[in-house]
Amino acid sequence: MLVSARARRVPLPLLEGQTGFLDFDIAVHPGVFVPRSETEELAERAVSALRSLPRCPRALDLGTGTGALALAIAQARPDVSVVAVDASPRALACARRNVRAHGLDEQVEVRKSDWFSHVPERFHLIVANPPYVARPDLATLEPEVRQYEPRQALDGGPDGLSAIRIVLAEAPRHLFSGGAILVEIGHDQGEAVLRFARAASSWVETRVDSDLSGKERFFIGRCG
Ligand SMILES: C[S@@+](CC[C@H](N)C(=O)[O-])C[C@H]1O[C@@H](n2cnc3c(N)ncnc32)[C@H](O)[C@@H]1O
Repeated sequence: MLVSARARRVPLPLLEGQTGFLDFDIAVHPGVFVPRSETEELAERAVSALRSLPRCPRALDLGTGTGALALAIAQARPDVSVVAVDASPRALACARRNVRAHGLDEQVEVRKSDWFSHVPERFHLIVANPPYVARPDLATLEPEVRQYEPRQALDGGPDGLSAIRIVLAEAPRHLFSGGAILVEIGHDQGEAVLRFARAASSWVETRVDSDLSGKERFFIGRCG
């Protein structure tokens, strides 16, 4: 059965019902994006950013999917509280299951929200791995991704930047002064994302960092 499912290009984590993320076992469900290794790097950066935050910091995970980033942040500091939002009911159910399984319910609130629509609060740290595949490129993705990952998790609009623009435009209103946002982006989007962010006056620091394979992958912005 496993062999025939793999022949149909069903991703292994979906067959096994779980995947590894840093040192967590994360339950994965059909219709919920399977966390990737690049996002583990994003989580490590978020954990390191937490070290310089004051006591009882607040963090937001936008588009939480399985809840992987929220879990990594909550686990790293017992005094951090995390709001994890998603627009997908399946993702919300999966994230709640993972939060409960890791005993982090006290620290992580999973909430339905269309990006910031139900997020009135401010945070010290925002993390996001939004959909960033340009719509014309969706058809070129591997079958494992194209057929089994939810389109809502991949489709970044005509140029791949639709969700990133919303997140970066609204984030400053949801960050405390000195607060930071870390956003995973496509390897060819760094220049466009920096141009967009630098057109706004809200950021005192903007930069793009590369992942371990040398590809531009993370936008980092700090609010004044
Ligand atoms: C690429 S996945 C990332 C999931 C998870 N953060 C991770 O890194 O594994 C993007 C996520 O954004 C969510 N999403 C898409 N549109 C959204 C919206 N308008 N508001 C909130 N979340 C959204 C998707 O449901 C999906 O879970």
